Amino acid sequence: MSRRILVTGGCGLIGSAVVERILAANGRALVLDNLSTGKPGNLPRDPRVELTIGDVCDDALVASHVRRCDAVAHLAAGVGVRLVLSRPTGALRQSLLGTENVLRHAAAARRPVFFASTSEVYGDSDGAPRSEAGPVGFGAPDRLRFSYAAGKAAGEALAFAYAHEYGLEVAVGRFFNVTGARQSPDGGAVVPTFVRQALAGAPITIHGDGSQTRCFLDARDAAEYVWRLLDGAAAPGTLVNIGRDDPITILDLARRVRDLVDPRVKIEAAPPKYGAGFVPIRHRRPDVRRLLDLTGYAPRVPLDETIRSCVRVARATR
Ligand SMILES: NC(=O)c1ccc[n+]([C@@H]2O[C@H](COP(=O)([O-])OP(=O)(O)OC[C@H]3O[C@@H](n4cnc5c(N)ncnc54)[C@H](O)[C@@H]3O)[C@@H](O)[C@H]2O)c1
Repeated sequence: MSRRILVTGGCGLIGSAVVERILAANGRALVLDNLSTGKPGNLPRDPRVELTIGDVCDDALVASHVRRCDAVAHLAAGVGVRLVLSRPTGALRQSLLGTENVLRHAAAARRPVFFASTSEVYGDSDGAPRSEAGPVGFGAPDRLRFSYAAGKAAGEALAFAYAHEYGLEVAVGRFFNVTGARQSPDGGAVVPTFVRQALAGAPITIHGDGSQTRCFLDARDAAEYVWRLLDGAAAPGTLVNIGRDDPITILDLARRVRDLVDPRVKIEAAPPKYGAGFVPIRHRRPDVRRLLDLTGYAPRVPLDETIRSCVRVARATR
C-alpha cells in the first residue's frame, strides 16, 4: 500500500517539492497549510494530493491529520525576515505552538516526523562549515530577527525531548538557504529578488559590501533529502544540516544572475535592508558530512540551473 505523508506547509517552496517527491515514490500527500506564504497553485494537480487549508496551531486539526498519515514532514512556519520583523509575536507563537502540536500528536500516534529547522540557529560564523556537533548560538533576544532562530531552536529541543521521553522517531533538518522557482521575493529571499530586479532591467541591489557568503540548495534537492530522512535513512533522534557546501559571495551571485538574465543590468550598493540596527549574518556554510553519510545523496541541481528555473517562472508569471 502506498504511504500517505502529512506535509505541513506543503504549499510552500520546500513543501511543494516534497509533495512532488512523495508522488514520484507512488505515495500520497496530505497537505496542511494556512496559505500565509504558500499558494495552492504550487501543488501538483493530482488526485493523490489532498489539501486542507488550516493552521498547525489548530490542535484538533493536527490530531486528526496526524492520525490519517503514516509519517509527517513538518515544514510549516512563518518564513522570511520581513515577516518575522513585522509580526514577531505571531511568528514565534506559531512556531512554538504549531511544532508542539505536531510533535505531541505524532508521538501519541507513533508516526515518524521530519522537522524543518534552520541554519539561523548557528548565528553568525567566520566562514568555516558549521557542524551539528557544535553548539547553537544566535544573537541577543532584543534583536527581533533572532526570534525566528529561537523558535526553531526551541522546536529542536522539543523534538529531542519527545524522542527521549516518548520514543518519537524524529529527524531534525537544519536547512541552509534553500531556493527555487517557487520562492517568493516578498519575504526578502535573495535569489528571487535579484531575478525580479534583473528581469525588470532595474539595478540589482546589494546590501553591505557583497562579500557575505551563502550556500544555495535547490528545493528539489532539499526535498530529496527530506524524503530520504523520512524514509528511514535516519536513526530516530537525528540532527542533520541540509545544504550544499559551496559558498558564493552575494556579489558573485548578483553577477551570475545578471549574466544569465541581462548583462546590461547594473549592480549597485544599497543601504541596509532592514535598518541600521539589523544584525546581518556574514557567512552561512554547512558541514555536510553527516548529511551525505545518512542519505548517500549529493545535490544534483547546479546553481545556474536553479537561477534559470527562477527566471523561467518569473517570466511566465509577470
Ligand atoms: N528556504 C530556506 O532557505 C529555509 C531555511 C531554513 C529553514 N527553512 C524552513 O523550512 C520550512 C519551509 O520553508 P520554505 O522556504 O518552503 O518557506 P515557504 O514560506 O515557502 O513555506 C512555508 C509554508 O508554510 C505555510 N505556513 C506558515 N505558517 C503556517 C501555519 N501556522 N500553519 C500552516 N501552514 C503554515 C505557508 O503558507 C507556506 O506554504 C520552514 O519551516 C522554514 O522555517 C527554510
